[in-house]
Amino acid sequence: MAPRPILIDTDPGQDDAVAILLALAARDTLDVLGLTCVAGNVPLEKTALNARRICDLAGRPDLPVCAGCDRPMGRALVTAEHVHGQSGLDGPDLPAPQMPLHPAHAVDFLIDTLRAYPPGTVTLIALGPLTNLATAFGRAPDITGRLREIVLMGGAQAALGNVTPVAEFNIHVDPTAADIVLRAGVPVVMVPLDVTHKALVTPARNAALRALGTPVGHAVADLTGFFERYNPVRYGAEGAPLHDPCTIAWLLRPDLFASRHVNVTVETQSDLTLGMTVMDWWGISDRAPNTTVLHDIDADGFFDLLTERLATL
Ligand code: RIB
Ligand code: CA
Repeated sequence: MAPRPILIDTDPGQDDAVAILLALAARDTLDVLGLTCVAGNVPLEKTALNARRICDLAGRPDLPVCAGCDRPMGRALVTAEHVHGQSGLDGPDLPAPQMPLHPAHAVDFLIDTLRAYPPGTVTLIALGPLTNLATAFGRAPDITGRLREIVLMGGAQAALGNVTPVAEFNIHVDPTAADIVLRAGVPVVMVPLDVTHKALVTPARNAALRALGTPVGHAVADLTGFFERYNPVRYGAEGAPLHDPCTIAWLLRPDLFASRHVNVTVETQSDLTLGMTVMDWWGISDRAPNTTVLHDIDADGFFDLLTERLATL
């Protein structure tokens, strides 16, 4: 079977970096068509720089990396240097990128790529705020019918929020964009904090990554080691939650996850609950189900998959 074509929209970020490396390692199964960068964890200039640093590390200077939207729809950008460091990719000492940015704006790249492939073949992996995608939907509504599905890291149910008491970062940064994406009629798989907070990089799991003994293994161990410093302070858990790679793992091994198809609606007005993903878990409202929400993960199986795949880079 031909590898599945995917686009990755991203705001690297240590966990984005691991997700991108996992996708590039799974070249027998996934065909990464390009990376589109968005402002999120750090400003756009740094996310676009970091995406290219990761491609250089993976030996993929050929991959199109496009810069996209530098702020959310209708509000100021909120970043997360306190989690990811000033560079957004603190931890390993990754050199400045050798590869240039692709000349196309990320929104144009998304539109042009989706129009170039047969309808229903390209999957979009969204790892940051959904600004690029929502902007593309507004500029070219026809592309909503061309996507196979969207697999996004974002949202939270019982896990509650990580940037406010009820909101997860990617959704909170641009709730308007998230609302547009969830209402667009495209099949959506949501990977919320309820799952990613079970995918913790414990010292043993980090040691297994470092034991790969490769530049990628060392870099991923350093990336997740830095990312961890924030997690125990806030959540008292051992190890960093490896959010974004769970999206790629779902593509590769959906059997590692449990899911339910429900309605998810985003709060876009209230200052108190802005960005909250209201999940109608029991079908109480009259809102039609629009999202396949993952709610459990085989964490050991996930880390075995991650370590085995990264060993091939
Ligand atoms: O809330 C976690 C998400 O926000 C992850 O995608 C992380 O990289 C940040 O973008
Ligand atoms: Ca991210």
